[in-house]
Amino acid sequence: MLSIETARSWYPASDPVHGFDHVLRVYRIAERLAQAEGADLEIVCAAALLHDAGDAGRLSHQHASAEFALQVLLAAGWPDERIAAVQHCIRAHRFRDDSEQPETLEARVLFDADKLDAIGAIGVARAIAYAALDSQPAYAEPSASFLETGQKAPSEPHSSYHEYMFKLRKLSQRLYTPSARRLAAGRHQFMTEFYIQLAAELQGER
Ligand SMILES: [Fe+2]
Ligand SMILES: [Fe+2]
Repeated sequence: MLSIETARSWYPASDPVHGFDHVLRVYRIAERLAQAEGADLEIVCAAALLHDAGDAGRLSHQHASAEFALQVLLAAGWPDERIAAVQHCIRAHRFRDDSEQPETLEARVLFDADKLDAIGAIGVARAIAYAALDSQPAYAEPSASFLETGQKAPSEPHSSYHEYMFKLRKLSQRLYTPSARRLAAGRHQFMTEFYIQLAAELQGER
């Protein structure tokens, strides 16, 4: 097994969205889902620790991380087919890129664990942190065109509420494993209530 302490050095210390805190939460949830679903624990845990580790300068981060995983696991003496299994998990973990879908149970577990960290209370905290890092507000009222097509009006901000409307509220329906779907139900409900309350407060209704 790769150690958590080794993995820590692969990530920036202070990234509230994709830093090591996120990786550690994904690792813990992925381990739990893998046990419940009967997935290969060593593959899932390695994939969780490595899934966002690649520097996405030249490649999208799923491809950069899969290449980084190859180097790490070759150096650790892993057999080719198990390295390939980890790389598939990593390449298939992105919601926005469906060119490689999660085909194996291990890839589905990693996908689900990563998405569970984007919803619920932690999902809200990350969405607001991400917006703040990008100088965007927690809430702005989305335009009709954004709500219909995802296309923003000129100078429309991308608030955390936009991210909720565009992506986060759909995630619980996109999960693969029954264990993750059960966990997602409560997280989805909490997040939805938060954004309903936020919108109402900012419109002066509550
Ligand atoms: Fe990622
Ligand atoms: Fe991630």
